[in-house]
Amino acid sequence: MKKIVVAIDGPAGAGKSTISKLVAQKLGIEYIDTGAMYRAVTLKIIRNKIDVSDDVTLEKMLNSTEITLENGKVYLDGEDVSTEIRQLYVSGRVSEIAAKQVVRDRLVELQRKMALSKNVIMDGRDIGTVVLKDANYKIYLTASVEERAARRYKEFCQQNSSVTFQEICNDIKERDRIDMNRSYNPLVKAEDAILIDTTGKSIDEVVDEILLIIKNN
Ligand code: DC
Repeated sequence: MKKIVVAIDGPAGAGKSTISKLVAQKLGIEYIDTGAMYRAVTLKIIRNKIDVSDDVTLEKMLNSTEITLENGKVYLDGEDVSTEIRQLYVSGRVSEIAAKQVVRDRLVELQRKMALSKNVIMDGRDIGTVVLKDANYKIYLTASVEERAARRYKEFCQQNSSVTFQEICNDIKERDRIDMNRSYNPLVKAEDAILIDTTGKSIDEVVDEILLIIKNN
C-alpha cells in the first residue's frame, strides 16, 4: 500500500489542526501538531525565565526536555500541558522563540523521528518546505485575518475566557508577521503545495476537499 504523508502548512488560525485531526481520523493515520511542540518549549522557557538570547542555555534546556504527543494531548516532561499552551501569554511569545535556529533544529529532528515509517498528517509552518519535504501530499491552508481571528475568538468564548476579539486579532497579525519574516525557515507556501483558501468554507467542506486530493493523486 502507498505510504501516506500529508504536510499541512499555513498561518495561525487557518484551521490546520481541526482539519488535520479530522483527516487523520478519516484515514486512520497519525496526526502530529508541531505548533503544540513550539508552544510546549515556549511554556518551559516562560516558567523557567530562560534568557532566549543565550543559545547555550537554550540548547541545554532543549536537550533535557521531553515533549510527547499522545491521544490528542501534549506532554511536557511528563506533564499534560494541552490547555495551558493555548493561553494567550504563551501565544504571545511562541513566534519569537520559534524563530530561533537552535529551537527549530531540535524540534525538526524530533518531528522527523515521529513521522518515521508511519502514515502521518503533520501541520505547522515549515512541514512541506523543510520537515517533510518529500511528503506525497502538500496543502497550504489560509483564510482572511478577520475570519481566522473570529474562529479563535469563538474558541476562547467557549472556554469562558475574557480575551477580547481585538487581542486575538493583534496576536494573529503579529505572529503572521514574525512567522513569515524570520530569516530561518519562514512560513512560505511550498512550490508544490496546493493552496486552499478556507474563508467562508465549513470545516467539513475543507476536510472533503483534502480527502479528494489524497484519493485522486
Ligand atoms: O500552529 P500554532 O498556532 O499552534 O503554532 C504556534 C507557533 O509556533 C506559530 O506562531 C509559529 C510556530 N510554529 C513554527 O514556527 N513552525 C511550525 N512547524 C509550527 C509552529
